[in-house]
Amino acid sequence: MTEAQIGLIGLGTMGAALALNIADNGFDIAVWNRTAAKTDDFVADAGPLATRITATRTLEELVSSLAQPRAIILMVPAGDIVDKQIAALRPLLAPDDLIIDAGNALFHDTNRRAAAGDGPFLGIGVSGGEEGARFGPSIMGGGDRAHWDRVAPILEAIAASYGGQPCATWLGDAGAGHFVKAVHNGIEYADMQMIAEVYGVMRDGFGMAAAEIGDVFENWNQGPLESYLIGISGKVAAATDTATGRPMLDMIVDAAGQKGTGRWTAIEAQHLATPIPAIEAAVVARNLSSRRDERALGEKLFGAAPQPISRDEITLDQLEQALIAGKILCYAQGFEMIRGAQEAFGWALPLPEIAKVWRAGCIIRSAMLNDMARALADPSAQNLMFADGFADQLRGTHAALRHVVAVGSLHGIAMPALSSGLAYFDAMRTARGTANMIQGQRDYFGRHGFERMDGGSDKHGPWVG
Ligand SMILES: NC(=O)c1ccc[n+]([C@@H]2O[C@H](COP(=O)([O-])OP(=O)(O)OC[C@H]3O[C@@H](n4cnc5c(N)ncnc54)[C@H](OP(=O)(O)O)[C@@H]3O)[C@@H](O)[C@H]2O)c1
Repeated sequence: MTEAQIGLIGLGTMGAALALNIADNGFDIAVWNRTAAKTDDFVADAGPLATRITATRTLEELVSSLAQPRAIILMVPAGDIVDKQIAALRPLLAPDDLIIDAGNALFHDTNRRAAAGDGPFLGIGVSGGEEGARFGPSIMGGGDRAHWDRVAPILEAIAASYGGQPCATWLGDAGAGHFVKAVHNGIEYADMQMIAEVYGVMRDGFGMAAAEIGDVFENWNQGPLESYLIGISGKVAAATDTATGRPMLDMIVDAAGQKGTGRWTAIEAQHLATPIPAIEAAVVARNLSSRRDERALGEKLFGAAPQPISRDEITLDQLEQALIAGKILCYAQGFEMIRGAQEAFGWALPLPEIAKVWRAGCIIRSAMLNDMARALADPSAQNLMFADGFADQLRGTHAALRHVVAVGSLHGIAMPALSSGLAYFDAMRTARGTANMIQGQRDYFGRHGFERMDGGSDKHGPWVG
């Protein structure tokens, strides 16, 4: 029997798609799933690819069907399940056999597992949902470079590619890959939220039907906003519910789900003291969306917030420009968070390579990312919003963002992510801010002291006796 080149545990949505992708790329793979019936169904549905797949019924069988040194991908829910799976697997493995956690692990857990010293371990972030996993995901690698190099030929072969370059890259030690995946998901939250906010202006302000809104997104997808998320937003808005014949979007409950990666990003940004207000606002917006009863009570008490907006007050063009500005600002915040982690964690986290790895395969892929990769490659590059091309785009679009947020606010349309993006933009171009007042207050009540504008040595105000 041919020994498989790689093993995979967990034939759920992502694992099954990834296993087929691996087989499709000419690699022999051995698979194991907790529920054996799923393994049988998986192989039965694999068609001609079944010849490259070894179905196993025990972990021992999985291990013995792999070429040495072994490499085994885990695609199971993050958390304790990963620890338990590793604990069950390690005793069966040789010292140089590699375990790869490809789920959405919290990067602190990946750091802990990599440091455990019980054998080679990689944590890789995989983005692109089921379709990406099957036909080419974006893969963000973390762990020992030498371990990555062992499996890079397989990971690069199955990843999406952009201009012939694979969207699979080693980004740093230990939890670096899962950290970048978390920030990716944070940007994803903000991008999705901003799209939902302009949808709100069109639906509640302009009174547009879902199909018309779908046309607008489809049209925007031909321009600077071209991206996976704008593309699917157009398709979602255009779809009809087969059960009722009504627009699908109108039949979907307005409470957003989440698995927690956006929350992790927001929490970690606070630890790192890196400002990502648009991403935090998007997490808050999802939490708020689930409070349906309270929102209904609020509407009864105060009246419905959104009021009609005429198409003269905000044009579709301004809405598009506002979204361009918002998108640049949310990516800028995400990249700044990653820059902050370079120093804090001592990880490589090469920003241009990260932008490149996101150019295809992942949920936040967008036409802008190639330009972002170029802008971030400039060694003098500071915040992305200051980089040549992006500063120009912001100069051309920030007035529209301000207009949309201002008019939307006057008409009761909540735009937490777009308005947080705008506040970030304004704060980042205010050389003399207002924190002198905070420093004065802190010194007043706590004798914390402050730096003086004139460089003088007196660190306290006259209120300190
Ligand atoms: N879905 C996405 O779009 C997406 C995208 C990127 C990353 N991810 C991440 O990928 C991982 C897998 O997600 P998924 O969507 O593929 O999940 P899923 O469809 O729910 O599949 C989960 C898999 O894990 C197995 N499993 C569950 N509990 C287990 C346990 N206690 N011991 C051993 N195996 C267990 C299941 O086996 P049984 O068949 O026996 O239940 C199944 O094979 C997660 O970390 C997720 O966050 C998901």
